[in-house]
Amino acid sequence: MRYRFVVGNWKMHGNRASNRALLEAVVKGIDGLEAVECAVCVPFPYLGEIAGQLAGARLAWGAQNLSEHAQGAFTGEVSAPMLVEFGCRYVIVGHSERRQLFGETDCVVAAKYAAALAQGLKPILCVGETLSQRDAGQTEEVVERQLRVVLDSNGKKSLENAVVAYEPVWAIGTGRTATQEQAQAVHAFLRARVLPETRILYGGSVKPDNAAALFAMPDVDGGLIGGASLVAGDFIAVVQAAARAAQRKG
Ligand code: PGA
Repeated sequence: MRYRFVVGNWKMHGNRASNRALLEAVVKGIDGLEAVECAVCVPFPYLGEIAGQLAGARLAWGAQNLSEHAQGAFTGEVSAPMLVEFGCRYVIVGHSERRQLFGETDCVVAAKYAAALAQGLKPILCVGETLSQRDAGQTEEVVERQLRVVLDSNGKKSLENAVVAYEPVWAIGTGRTATQEQAQAVHAFLRARVLPETRILYGGSVKPDNAAALFAMPDVDGGLIGGASLVAGDFIAVVQAAARAAQRKG
């Protein structure tokens, strides 16, 4: 059985006071929903404080990016060993915003994935096509390449300690979600290329009102949640939907 997983991606949002209140509410709200593993990936400066607040709680935490290097003269970068020091369990790797806005190539993403694994961090590897790639019928080709470059250099077995997230770029922050059939089709395609136990999350405008339908799909194991992870009630409702799906699917 693949354990359900819901991850909040705060992106560049939050402040110390609002983080505290949000996490307090989320920790309370997910109490009793043990069928779903939960985590939040937060901006670097908040990691120390959040590590203190969440110590002993069921909510794990992680970062949204890391350097491919372990240390050195890389001004402005943050390494995997640093994230480990702050109790991170997860780190998002290859998010489309990193690929598109910060020029991360498949090779850089593969190196970051390796850097995370080398320190015992679990990478959440994001793959996904743009709208023009989807319109050109290239969805499978794109996600296959994004996955293959990482697995070619890290080995398929590395997926034992990683999570995959399918995030169609055209659905991120746009309010335009992939239909559950569109998501399922790509998840099934990816499923054939990962390990049987690898969790594949869907991300892209997941909200309380569409989460249940997406999570009901056989190959959707949970979600990577952006906007809705900033509102406690919405994030909790998404976790509740995952818990109900877990009950139904086993
Ligand atoms: P969204 O973001 O839920 O706001 O679309 C998802 C993501 O980018 O991880």
